[in-house]
Amino acid sequence: MHEVQTLGQEIARYITPNSVKEILTHLKGLGSSGRIIAGGTDILLELERNARPGVETLIDISRVAGLDRIHEDGDGMIHLGPMVTHNDVVASALLVEKALPLAQASWEVGSPQLRNRATVGGNLVTASPANDTISALWALNATVTLESVDGGERIVPLKEFYLGPRKTVMTAGEMLTRISFPAMRADQRGIYIKLGLRRAQAISVVHVAMVLTLAEDEQTITAASIAQGSVAATIISTPTAEKYLVGKKLDAETIEEAARLAQATPNPIGDLRGTAEYRTELIKVMVSRGLKALRDNQQAATWPQEPAMLAGIADGTSASHRTALIENDTEIETTINGETVIAKHAAGKTLLDWLRDEAGLTGSKEGCAEGECGACTVFLDGKAVMGCLVPAGRAHGAQITTVEGLAEGDQLSALQQAFIDEAAVQCGYCIPGFIMSGTKLLEEHPNPTTAQIKQGLSGNLCRCTGYYKIMQAVHEAADNQ
Ligand SMILES: Cc1cc2nc3c(=O)[nH]c(=O)nc-3n(C[C@H](O)[C@H](O)[C@H](O)COP(=O)(O)OP(=O)(O)OC[C@H]3O[C@@H](n4cnc5c(N)ncnc54)[C@H](O)[C@@H]3O)c2cc1C
Ligand code: FES
Ligand code: FES
Repeated sequence: MHEVQTLGQEIARYITPNSVKEILTHLKGLGSSGRIIAGGTDILLELERNARPGVETLIDISRVAGLDRIHEDGDGMIHLGPMVTHNDVVASALLVEKALPLAQASWEVGSPQLRNRATVGGNLVTASPANDTISALWALNATVTLESVDGGERIVPLKEFYLGPRKTVMTAGEMLTRISFPAMRADQRGIYIKLGLRRAQAISVVHVAMVLTLAEDEQTITAASIAQGSVAATIISTPTAEKYLVGKKLDAETIEEAARLAQATPNPIGDLRGTAEYRTELIKVMVSRGLKALRDNQQAATWPQEPAMLAGIADGTSASHRTALIENDTEIETTINGETVIAKHAAGKTLLDWLRDEAGLTGSKEGCAEGECGACTVFLDGKAVMGCLVPAGRAHGAQITTVEGLAEGDQLSALQQAFIDEAAVQCGYCIPGFIMSGTKLLEEHPNPTTAQIKQGLSGNLCRCTGYYKIMQAVHEAADNQ
């Protein structure tokens, strides 16, 4: 039986401004009762767990044009706007070439549906010591730009941004408006390595990010930057190993000593994902592996070619970007499966609940309500997303597709038919989510490889059919399209 999932705390208002100036004005006016929402993948769960007492208004920054820009300036600096998502990073040839550790870190975040919404900016502000992109940007020597109505603009080195777990120097009236770092030069090599307890949706047990600068001989190190995550209260540097490496060549002895020094730097935390002793051992192994890969110029060896992102082939922008103040009784208007739907009660609900309760579309399922299972997968402006992690207000003026929109009359889609033909369904609860992810995958990659199918379905869990038949169904649909 589906239970109505509200956002826990009473969210009375949902605002979608159309400029940074407007966002800053709202932040000042609302004080601690207002909170920015970017992708929403952290804040919605925090609200549901009542972890943000006093927040009554969400300020959605996703409708401001240009905030998803990634560019390199004439001085060799790369800049990311606050709405750059992890999938935007993965898709950026510039970042894969000149900021590989960041691209690798973004690729490690959650699942495809999550990466279509979750931003790098949100990852930095949430400030968990396990957050993947913090370490990569730390090793890349990044800064963040914070803006407010009262304080103008200040630029803070990422290494000075954190005060403790989930604590930053940012004040209530401030917005993170830019992330900047020097593009990696031809004489630099970098890598990001993560160990999680499974292949997707896994918080780091330990991760490391490294950037080395090499002399003309391409062997002698002239500068080293090594960040470690998920080992202490914040991301940390590895100063003794960094200093030791300068002037050395990466032979076996140097790598072993640098890994030993890296291991000795922190006093790792122990938690349910790993004991302190396990983490200590992991740091040595991961630093050693990373340095070997950099020595052999193999840092990009595992980078996926043509990754499955479930971002579709559309440009992902809404048909109409709308600014709005949405309260509980405000009617929002959206296009669902090609039909206009107007309904209320969007302010404090997730998109999943709004679709089920207000739009009467119960095909999308709630398995976990925490972004873990993918049963709620829908398309939002052309991209696959987890409906349980999208605020319903974001649907205003947007294009939504649900599983009800895939068949044409009585004619099932090729993928729906393939699930039946391959007996890829047992209880069926997870299947709408798999069908949605699979549909988006086939749109993006009409003849997907097994690796791309695994990537595309990595955000979907099934407790009874097993994945072999599901993957077979996707292969069959690709053959029959
Ligand atoms: C199932 C699941 C799996 C996950 N897996 C991973 C993982 O593998 N690795 C990982 O690192 N994280 C993971 N996360 C956490 C989360 O997805 C990331 O931290 C994500 O990058 C947050 O971005 P967002 O845009 O969704 O942030 P939001 O939820 O929109 O915001 C996060 C916080 O930042 C604030 N904020 C956002 N943007 C700004 C801004 N521009 N200025 C000021 N404040 C701002 C918000 O007010 C909020 O406090 C996971 C989360 C879930 C639910
Ligand atoms: S991911 Fe949304 S219900 Fe599980
Ligand atoms: S078919 Fe039962 S959970 Fe997947």
